[in-house]
Amino acid sequence: MIEIFLDTANLKDIKKYTEWGIIKGVTTNQKIFSKEKGCDFEERSRKILEIMDPYPVSLEGPNDYQGIIDFAEKVEQWGNNAVVKVPMMGNGDGLRALHMIKDIVKTNVTACIVPNQAFLAASAGATYVSMFYGRIRDYYTHEQAMNFIRDAIKAIKDSDTKLIIGSVRDAMDVQYMVPIQPNVITIPPKILDRMPFHRRTEETLLEFEQAWEDFLTLSKPELAKSKA
Ligand code: E4P
Repeated sequence: MIEIFLDTANLKDIKKYTEWGIIKGVTTNQKIFSKEKGCDFEERSRKILEIMDPYPVSLEGPNDYQGIIDFAEKVEQWGNNAVVKVPMMGNGDGLRALHMIKDIVKTNVTACIVPNQAFLAASAGATYVSMFYGRIRDYYTHEQAMNFIRDAIKAIKDSDTKLIIGSVRDAMDVQYMVPIQPNVITIPPKILDRMPFHRRTEETLLEFEQAWEDFLTLSKPELAKSKA
């Protein structure tokens, strides 16, 4: 079964959607944290790790070789469920850093666009690799993006690495991804919020509610009279 992660660092959102019983992890990045104006990074990260425990929480720090290693050594002490995001850097430094930290902390190789990057991340022993659907679409057609993701899934299928679809920008993106069976789809709260809704479902519920009222009125006419 595909797992749903929540793409946010907002505590209210995490509380709201964990109450739906569907969230199996959280992903963040620097941009997501920048929306949480004035919060302390370590304090908020520890809080999210605590709320989500035992589910994984991906945290992203500096994007340079030594910075990733220092960040990993710090973050792995914040909670057993901490996952360090390792950027797929063009010069290979992300992979080099991954090789150094993968035995001390879970990792999520992030910002992948093409299947080759997922293939490398899985070969290097990443726990997760994130393909960024929305950002793939910024450069390629929907068909090409779907093929890239299908090929990435094939490329890592015999490894222990799990594939996350990130950069989801619309509820339809989730619907496109489900049939190709990634391990995880990480969804921003504003998209998840819209997913239970369909106009025809709402109309149906209203129709049934009306029928229920009619049924009660017919089976208990005295109730209908007393209401009148
Ligand atoms: C998740 O892990 C990613 O950081 C996130 O989905 C990126 O989304 P964006 O492309 O909308 O910034």
